[in-house]
Amino acid sequence: MAVEKTFFLETFGCQMNVHDSEKVIGTLQQQGYSQVETEEAADLILYNTCSIRDKAEQKVFNRLNDTKKLLKQGKRFGVLGCVAQQEGEAIFERAPYVSLVSGSASYRKLPEMLARLEAGEKRIAGLDDRQTDETFETEFTARSNKYRGYITIIEGCDKFCAYCVVPYTRGKERSRTSTSVLAEARRMAESGYTEVQLLGQNVNSYRDPEGKRSFAELLAAVAEIAGIRRVRFTTSHPRDFTQDIVDVIDAVPALCNHVHLPVQSGSTSTLKRMQREYTREQYLERIGWIKQSQRPISITTDIIVGFPGETVAEFEETLSLLETVQFDAVFAFKYSPRPNTPALVMIDAIPDEEKGKRLQALLDRQREWQRANYTKRIGQIVEVAVEGHNAQRGQVNGRTSENITLNFAPSGPILPAPGSYAQVEVTQSFPNSLVGRAV
Ligand code: 5AD
Ligand code: SF4
Repeated sequence: MAVEKTFFLETFGCQMNVHDSEKVIGTLQQQGYSQVETEEAADLILYNTCSIRDKAEQKVFNRLNDTKKLLKQGKRFGVLGCVAQQEGEAIFERAPYVSLVSGSASYRKLPEMLARLEAGEKRIAGLDDRQTDETFETEFTARSNKYRGYITIIEGCDKFCAYCVVPYTRGKERSRTSTSVLAEARRMAESGYTEVQLLGQNVNSYRDPEGKRSFAELLAAVAEIAGIRRVRFTTSHPRDFTQDIVDVIDAVPALCNHVHLPVQSGSTSTLKRMQREYTREQYLERIGWIKQSQRPISITTDIIVGFPGETVAEFEETLSLLETVQFDAVFAFKYSPRPNTPALVMIDAIPDEEKGKRLQALLDRQREWQRANYTKRIGQIVEVAVEGHNAQRGQVNGRTSENITLNFAPSGPILPAPGSYAQVEVTQSFPNSLVGRAV
């Protein structure tokens, strides 16, 4: 009888990594592995890593060493994802018990790499260079949610923002054909999915290799599949954000009321040093298109504070942009120097303490703007996708089309099932969530 092969996989980082892990898990299962919940129970321990900020590489090595000390001999370790691609074979030197190192652009070779691992090879590296044209498509995706699922439509990045590791860790920009995206979305709808989230580092830079559909046309085509009630897409890049994206949201009800459009800074001079390829005015023009929509499209963003050379006046331009736009959520980070990036050679003279102060000031102001904006939603009737329950409180948890968390009291003793949709009146608001009752 064959010996059971087990693996443990922990994921760090963005939605792309979460979805990559679903594909990796499906591939491992297809190769006869079963997933276990603890490192102790696993033969093969995998970390899917992120290197977007902080001392990510150091954290991965600390984690590997701590785990290694706790465990019995004989386990194999693998490092996947962005730290794997960034550090490459140096990982074998720093953590000699690691036998597999693979960046995301090499996952299509996982079956072959696993076979070599099983044959006893000690150092297997999947480190495709930036130039690969291949995408990782598999029909064996092990999605963790039964109703809401991701589909990658474009991998990699060609934008080279001065602060960012992604072009180096995820390879060049390459899109899947719209035919294959639509086939995957149809399969998901047939197996009960009602919400699809299209993913890409710059999702709206999508270019159909067959030339059949623009990004906006692909959005419409996914949203028109029978059974699909909600379609989201993330993350959009302002430079490639065009009016037709707003037009298609206006025209197609299943497209959600939400655009995530990272601005990074409200100062044109900082944006220039960041190599973002748009100005404050061009960003605000795109916001204007979104705000002119017939639908109440929610807008969220990412900000970096303390980028090299950011003056107090430039930082204040970011605050004024946030005040002008009135975002529904802001994800803000202190600038963190990253290996290989152009900004690494710029003088990072802003002390960490000052970066921390700017971050806190920004979050405090944003919290008050958000509090005021969310309060305006009290009394509205909204559709909520049910995600779970808090049995103790008799509360149902879900999400609005705008991607806002909404917890509500059910209309009767039977709680609506996860995956269903409810009409809810908003009765209370917090800076980051809403409360309501089913109607
Ligand atoms: N330092 C701080 N934040 C960063 N981000 C990307 N690179 C860095 C960096 N070096 C932020 C950006 C991006 C989000 C995913 O992470 O705001 O939009
Ligand atoms: Fe982290 Fe960027 Fe890699 Fe996602 S793509 S895991 S955010 S480094």
